[in-house]
Amino acid sequence: MVFTTARPQGLAVLHFITKSENQNHSMHHFHYHGSQLYCEDVSVETLARKYGTPLFIYSQQTITDRFLALDQALSELDHLVCFAVKSNSNRAVLRTVADLGGGFDIVSAGELQRVIAAGGQAGKCAFAGVGKSEAEIRYALEQGVYTFNVESEAELKRIDAIAGRLKKKAPVAVRVNPNVEAHTHAKITTGTYENKFGIAFEEIEKVYARASRMKNLWLRGVQMHIGSQITESTPFETAVRKVGPLAARLKARHGLEFFSLGGGIGIVYDPALESGSPKWWLAGAGRKTLTPARYAERLLPDLKSLGLRILLEPGRFISGNSGILVTRIEYVKRTGRKNFLIVDAAMNDLIRPAFYDAYHQILPLSRKGGKLISSDVVGPVCESGDYFCHDRPLPKVGEGDYLALMSAGAYGSVMGSNYNSRALPAEIMVRGKKAAVVRRRQALEEIHVGESIAPWQK
Ligand code: LLP
Repeated sequence: MVFTTARPQGLAVLHFITKSENQNHSMHHFHYHGSQLYCEDVSVETLARKYGTPLFIYSQQTITDRFLALDQALSELDHLVCFAVKSNSNRAVLRTVADLGGGFDIVSAGELQRVIAAGGQAGKCAFAGVGKSEAEIRYALEQGVYTFNVESEAELKRIDAIAGRLKKKAPVAVRVNPNVEAHTHAKITTGTYENKFGIAFEEIEKVYARASRMKNLWLRGVQMHIGSQITESTPFETAVRKVGPLAARLKARHGLEFFSLGGGIGIVYDPALESGSPKWWLAGAGRKTLTPARYAERLLPDLKSLGLRILLEPGRFISGNSGILVTRIEYVKRTGRKNFLIVDAAMNDLIRPAFYDAYHQILPLSRKGGKLISSDVVGPVCESGDYFCHDRPLPKVGEGDYLALMSAGAYGSVMGSNYNSRALPAEIMVRGKKAAVVRRRQALEEIHVGESIAPWQK
């Protein structure tokens, strides 16, 4: 793998990381064999030529390694790792998690349906979200989800009423808002009173007391989630120290079975950055980032004594580094001030840079020597926000060359849209030497197939 030691500007020095170093630091299976980027044992460029671009490629081994790293870190506890489906809902990805014995964190009936279609079990699903509709609650109850993670008293009442009509007991956990600052990006922080999630820490015990009088509810657990892309252990420790004793009291009073710590473990987006950078939330904290071992080491002492089953809801940690978005350079446009690489992927395929100013490492599929050129990688969508990087030192590349946008496995394809009537990309799953299309490229007609003109326009 290649990265630059100086960024974002200037002529940077190339630094090569060996395969084993790469696996230690960022734990993924995208690496160079000679000059060619490989996903596991498959040449990425071969896939790009065969299936076209833009193209998402997932490494099944990386998903597996990541899942198992977390699962094993918690092995001393009764636990269930529930993969956050919102981060990547491709059925092949979900199947990988299901085959490893994982559960799922879901936020809609659509996600539950996908899990079931992929061979996952509803009984291992935690249904979260502030706005569950009546139809969604009914469907989830009929399928038998493990828990509803409830975000308001109004929702508790609604679930109780629907469960009563279906003559079922609904398993619920209330989401505690612990009011802990997670030091992450403003758009993905969730654990403080400034946002819409959960019920305030101080209110929780009263809410459980009232919920215990609702006849059709089974108070099964308690849940929290403090934010996403958290790259240090301190916010998790603070939250567990605050909510752990509350969970113990609720267990004593209401016989709870589990405590869900939510998701949010961050990943490395830019291997060149060390932690401590003022922009670390955009880039990941480099080599010192949070590992499952460190996460467990810091939290296990507090969790063990609770005697509760521990649930985790990681999304990005499992899927983030497991996927890339491959794109082809359509044009190179040199203006007086800029070197624009206009590529065939756009903000509708990967919105994170446009939406969060997020950093994604960009690597050529064919590694070249020579000077690096400060470049802007931009897409064809008619918005100046449609960019993947600004003024980044990249190797000299030309029309027809391919680039990989790294760490696009989480919140990539799932946040895609048809903006500018652009078709959704194909997705490939790789395992060892094998590669399979796990989502075919959308045909242009499919984009508008559900539309029609109004009758009076005929
Ligand atoms: N549990 C709950 C209740 C959540 O709200 C989330 C993420 C997760 C688990 C999984 O979080 P993770 O382990 O993936 O950090 N689109 C944004 C991220 C939004 C996260 C929303 N909630 C991004 O691209 O960075």
